[in-house]
Amino acid sequence: VLVVHRRERSSGRWDKAAAILRELKDKCRTPIGKLRQVADDMAFEMHAGLASEGGSNLKMIISYVDNLPTGDEKGLFYALDLGGTNFRVLRVQLGGKDKYVAKQEFEEVSIPPHLMVGTSVALFDFIAEALKKFVDTEGEDFHLSPGRRRELGFTFSFPVKQSSIASGTLFKWTKGFSIDEAVGQDVVGELTKAMERVGLDMSVTALVNDTIGTLAGGRYYNPDVVAAVILGTGTNAAYVERAQAIPKWHGLLPKSGEMAINMEWGNFRSPHLPLTEYDQAMDVESLNPGEQLFEKTISGMYLGEIVRRVLCRMAEEAALFGDTVPPKLKIPFILRTPHMSAMHHDTSSDLRVVETKLKDILEISNTSLKTRKAIVELCDIVAIRGARLSAAGILGILKKLGRDTVTEGENMRSVIALDGGLFEHYMKFRNSMESTLKELLGKASETIVIEHSNDGSGIGAALLAASHSLYLEVEES
Ligand code: GLC
Repeated sequence: VLVVHRRERSSGRWDKAAAILRELKDKCRTPIGKLRQVADDMAFEMHAGLASEGGSNLKMIISYVDNLPTGDEKGLFYALDLGGTNFRVLRVQLGGKDKYVAKQEFEEVSIPPHLMVGTSVALFDFIAEALKKFVDTEGEDFHLSPGRRRELGFTFSFPVKQSSIASGTLFKWTKGFSIDEAVGQDVVGELTKAMERVGLDMSVTALVNDTIGTLAGGRYYNPDVVAAVILGTGTNAAYVERAQAIPKWHGLLPKSGEMAINMEWGNFRSPHLPLTEYDQAMDVESLNPGEQLFEKTISGMYLGEIVRRVLCRMAEEAALFGDTVPPKLKIPFILRTPHMSAMHHDTSSDLRVVETKLKDILEISNTSLKTRKAIVELCDIVAIRGARLSAAGILGILKKLGRDTVTEGENMRSVIALDGGLFEHYMKFRNSMESTLKELLGKASETIVIEHSNDGSGIGAALLAASHSLYLEVEES
């Protein structure tokens, strides 16, 4: 009798768990028709954001980059890349057209979490200090032209209102950073002061978003690059726009006739986004409620957390892990996207990786195979929704550029430079994004190429530092 009872109870629980999963799957559906609507909304918002400041949930930030790298850049330049879980410092020796990046070295430093929510001085001092240490290791195969100061391209991957190529004020933080006093401040000013404090002699000649850096780095090697997309801790895109198609730009028309735009698409919103109660709850409890909704359904900072929230509900309402909810499972952001990716890619017949992750991260053991299968499916639902939405975003850009269809006789190739950990390491995400884009584009997909631009953003910032070098004008005249 007891055995029967248990089985009945567990099958009732199982039905409940399956129902939660089914409901989620339904809410996360992204049929092609819906993705097309998202793409149309994206293109519409791009127009609106270019028309006037504050005209859209897309900021469409003017980057002041009106010339992308050509290959002629020469000399020693530094770059500093801040905006994810790590920050990177990098030096490159640019050798012009025959050598391109003749030599490069970089270092990656992880940012202590308390600095992400501390004070401006503490964060910038930490960065400047690390940069100084790195500069001190500069070897003899790097050459600074005599009489020059070292110059730096600063990749700062947050929404910044640029006022020139080398200055701009922070609109707001994203991705788990939150330092109130820095909002509204000139980030180059903050970095420059910190460099002075630590005794580092260097000038910042370019301030760029990571998408703009990736666009520049991509174009350096491939003239067909028209846009760049980051799929990492956060997500965003940049592209090259005709200056005349930017009504809110009142400056001089650049010689090139072009301007790179940082879309800040993470803040995109549309009634067609498939959002769930888990997304809503995560948003409300986040550091930036009501903001970055597109980012919160797509990017690496959030995917694992969405999965955790669903698991929590399954534990509470369907006793998925027994009579009590495992305490670790209640800790926000404990389940990171790389863990989720590892579980999602588990190909062993008994789902050993899922078992290990559950044990190591959440201290959950003794799960049934059925439960582990459900977890893999959960990862699939959450990741695939994000991947498909990012493909729709890319289609939106191509639509805005008029590159989403093939014109008879025209031989246009459009390359999109992609970077970020999610794209680089989460294969099921990447494959789904790419195949969805193909499906959306149909025949036109033959003219669109997705290219991985490995650390394009760091190199790109160094290239832009070079093309905006303070010594350039002197040499040219
Ligand atoms: C966030 C930032 C944005 C950045 C993106 C990718 O969306 O706001 O500036 O480009 O993350 O790092």
